Amino acid sequence: MEISPTLSFLCFNLVLVASLAAVYSDDVFSDSLLSLKSEFSDNYNALGDWFMPSRRNPFDEIAACSWTGVSCNSNSTMIIGLDLSGRGLGGELTGKQFHVFVDLVSLNFSHNLFSGDLPVSIFNLTNLKNLDISRNNFSGNFPNGVSGLKKLVVLDAFSNGFSGPLPAEVSQVQSLKVVNFAGSYFSGPIPSEYGNFKSLELIHLAGNLLGGEIPPDLGKLQTLTHMEIGYNSYQGGIPMEIGNMSQLQYLDIAGANLSGPIPKEISNLAKLQSLFLFRNQLTGLIPSQLSNLVSLQSLDLSDNQLSGKIPESFSELKNLSLLSLFQNELSGTVPQAIADLPMLDTLLLWNNYFSGFLPNTLGVKSNLKLVDVSTNNFSGKIPPSLCVNGMLSKLILFSNYFTGELPFFLSNCSSLVRIRFEDNSLSGPISLNFGSLSDISYVDLSSNKLTGGVPEDITQASKLEYFNVSNNPELGGDLPPKLWSLPLLGNFSSSSCNISGNIPPFQSCKSLTVVELSSNYLLGNMPETISDCHSLSIIDLSHNNISGEIPESLGHSTSLVLLNVSFNDISGSIPDNNHFRLMDNSAFLGNPKLCGVPLQACRNSKEIQTELLWVLVLCAAVVVFIALAVSGVYYIQKERKKGQWKMISFNGFPNLTANDVLKSFSSPEFMETIQYPLVSSPICKVTLPTGITVSVKKIEWDPQRMEVMEELIIQMGNARHKNLTRLLGYCYNKDLVYLLYDHLPNGNVADKILGRQDWSSKYKTVLGIAKGLCFLHHDCYPAIPHGGLRPTNIVFAESMEPQLTEFGFRFLMQLNKASFPVTVSKMQPGQYTSVKEELYMDIYNFGNIILEILTNGRTQNVSKSILNKPTEQLLEEICSENEVSPQNSLRKEISLMLEVALLCTRSRSTDQLSMKDVLNLLSGSIC
Ligand SMILES: *[C@@H]1O[C@H](CO)[C@@H](O)[C@H](O)[C@H]1NC(C)=O
Ligand SMILES: *[C@@H]1O[C@H](CO)[C@@H](O)[C@H](O)[C@H]1NC(C)=O
Ligand SMILES: *[C@@H]1O[C@H](CO)[C@@H](O)[C@H](O)[C@H]1NC(C)=O
Ligand SMILES: *[C@@H]1O[C@H](CO)[C@@H](O)[C@H](O)[C@H]1NC(C)=O
Ligand SMILES: *[C@@H]1O[C@H](CO)[C@@H](O)[C@H](O)[C@H]1NC(C)=O
Ligand SMILES: *[C@@H]1O[C@H](CO)[C@@H](O)[C@H](O)[C@H]1NC(C)=O
Repeated sequence: MEISPTLSFLCFNLVLVASLAAVYSDDVFSDSLLSLKSEFSDNYNALGDWFMPSRRNPFDEIAACSWTGVSCNSNSTMIIGLDLSGRGLGGELTGKQFHVFVDLVSLNFSHNLFSGDLPVSIFNLTNLKNLDISRNNFSGNFPNGVSGLKKLVVLDAFSNGFSGPLPAEVSQVQSLKVVNFAGSYFSGPIPSEYGNFKSLELIHLAGNLLGGEIPPDLGKLQTLTHMEIGYNSYQGGIPMEIGNMSQLQYLDIAGANLSGPIPKEISNLAKLQSLFLFRNQLTGLIPSQLSNLVSLQSLDLSDNQLSGKIPESFSELKNLSLLSLFQNELSGTVPQAIADLPMLDTLLLWNNYFSGFLPNTLGVKSNLKLVDVSTNNFSGKIPPSLCVNGMLSKLILFSNYFTGELPFFLSNCSSLVRIRFEDNSLSGPISLNFGSLSDISYVDLSSNKLTGGVPEDITQASKLEYFNVSNNPELGGDLPPKLWSLPLLGNFSSSSCNISGNIPPFQSCKSLTVVELSSNYLLGNMPETISDCHSLSIIDLSHNNISGEIPESLGHSTSLVLLNVSFNDISGSIPDNNHFRLMDNSAFLGNPKLCGVPLQACRNSKEIQTELLWVLVLCAAVVVFIALAVSGVYYIQKERKKGQWKMISFNGFPNLTANDVLKSFSSPEFMETIQYPLVSSPICKVTLPTGITVSVKKIEWDPQRMEVMEELIIQMGNARHKNLTRLLGYCYNKDLVYLLYDHLPNGNVADKILGRQDWSSKYKTVLGIAKGLCFLHHDCYPAIPHGGLRPTNIVFAESMEPQLTEFGFRFLMQLNKASFPVTVSKMQPGQYTSVKEELYMDIYNFGNIILEILTNGRTQNVSKSILNKPTEQLLEEICSENEVSPQNSLRKEISLMLEVALLCTRSRSTDQLSMKDVLNLLSGSIC
């Protein structure tokens, strides 16, 4: 008989295994560990050395003592520690082996992918001091029995998927010093028993779904130094008993729906170093007693409804380095006390009602790094010593009433990265001394009263990316000759600045994306070299005296989206190219010598002569016609007063008549339905006589508001970007307006989310949305808030490029409301304060959409389940949702995108994040 080699090998193995089992059956510890291992998924073979050795160890030693992660006592007779943290292990545990390991002192499962219920038998490990199951995917209720672990010191269950109530019995373990249940889905109130811990030093319950009132019993925790219970949604306010926790150093109840006042008892916490109560509904005054918190280093009360003044007594807070009070209803002046704080480095007061002068000595006593007082009513001069200690990196002062010249320190504050002074009343020259501002990247001085021209030395600002001085009507001067050679300059704006001279030649302008020079007195030709700027997408030269032709080479640009040369003296023909055809003809108007699409076609001189003849003939005809018409018109107008329809087509859309459009709205009895055609749904699909299918949106408008609304509609129609659905035109009478949009049949983001796209499509979608939004916010002037960004109104073009629809629509509807001033004839949405909130909401919604896309729509109620989770856990979940393993290089991209989403949705930002910042973070590009 012949036995196959495989079979014989198998037989041999069987014999071996059987004999080994016979010899080592008394090493029950090692056996149990192997049994435990058999329940794990171990994709990276992290436990590769977990196997029985072929030779038996001497002296009854446990074989497992030499295995990865296992630690034993000195003579290897007891397993006392098991550390399997961060080894990429997964699987569900039965817990059937745990009873063997009664000697175990430390069990660390942290940072793996274990899932399912936590086995209740884990509480049979009665000698445990450290139990760390953090950063896993355990779910279900936290099992009963934890109070059996009488020696437990550290219980860390951070970042899992537990649900149900917090275990109240854990408070019976008197030895516990650390309890961490943060980052799961625990619900219900914090058990009042949690006031009974005897040695607790740290409690972390943040980022769950906890509710109810915060139990006053917590005040009994006399040993507690660190309490983090925010990112839940409690009812009621902060119990005053919290002031009894005499050892507390760190208190964080941010984002927790807290209402009512800040109890003055908090000021009893003499050792408190950090107090974070931001993003709640706290009201009332900031208690002046907080000045008793002499150890306080960080105070963040931002994003509440606090009112009144900053207490003078804050001068006592000698250790304070962060003072963040932005987004409240605070008023009054900033007391001198703040300027006297010796450790202050970050001062965030934006979006309040502060007024008066900033203290003159601000910055003298401490190393200020970041000052943001934007959107208040501050007046007077910018304090002269903000950078006296050479640490200031961001100075954000926009939308106040600051006057006087730019402070002298700007000429040698080399730490500066970002200054935003726009929308103030600053005067005098731009004395920045760019040569010494080696890190400056963002400078916005727009809408002030500056003079003296764009400084020559701007060409030394080697890191400058954004420079805006538009709307400084007395600035004057010429543009510096080497302006465009700045290596990182992406955006240069100096519209309405009274600038004269020529446009300097473009050199090595590789980053340049947006150039706005409109409404100046620029002369000469457009430099040919402009076509060397390969990133240039928007050039606005409108309202100048520029002559000559549009450089033919510009026709080959692949990046150009808009060249606005309207109202100059440009001659010749518009380059015959798709990009130019798609631009609105308003970009070329006011140049009598210019021709070509999208203006009238160019003709040779013979044609012109013939046409002159025709014109004469026509003139004669017209005179006759007018005479006839005048008599008739009066009658017709009277008849049709109710419903004179007009159709306005934006560039690129056939010049249909109102009748053509209305007819296609369905009714054969068109003449009867002319006043209220049958378009009832908010948006519907209509096929026009030319065969073009469009989406139509209907608005009933107030005749008084037509003018101001039309202005916005025209602005929306002129907003052209590959990530915006084109508004093709509109058709209106005095009661109604129909907006006609491009119809894109490829579905919307909401459909795609559920379809589990691959990562590169997801990335493309997010980036496209960001670009569209960035264009609306930063490249439209005034900015157009989208106002209703949702997955359902982001549609896909043939190229699967996402396009935003219904942008500006919400703002349009606001203009239609009686509460809105009609008198604002030149509507400047960008300057209307509610618009700022809308822009903020757009960014917030964008963050939500990213999260929805990342999680395949699993998380629509983003505000709760997602925002309250620690980032690591979220990332873990998202990576597994997208089937990306811990080693995959995509993980970095996902992590970055998640970071951006959280920055957009968690409002605690040190400087308001703009869509520009967002896009830059996502892709390093500028919009
Ligand atoms: C091993 O050490 C423990 C104490 O750590 C002791 O109780 C035990 O008797 C020792 N066993 C042997 C076999 O030496
Ligand atoms: C568990 O392991 C992780 C990672 O090695 C470590 O950071 C953590 O402190 C450990 N937990 C305990 C309770 O020792
Ligand atoms: C814990 O151990 C006891 C006996 O020591 C046993 O009766 C019980 O079933 C064990 N619990 C679990 C959950 O294994
Ligand atoms: C995490 O647990 C949930 C609920 O048990 C499960 O649906 C999901 O697949 C788990 N994720 C991983 C990565 O194991
Ligand atoms: C937020 O707090 C208010 C006031 O205490 C309460 O009425 C409301 O129910 C709370 N919201 C949630 C979601 O708990
Ligand atoms: C705790 O605080 C409350 C109110 O602040 C006070 O009435 C009470 O006596 C304090 N209890 C203890 C034990 O200190």
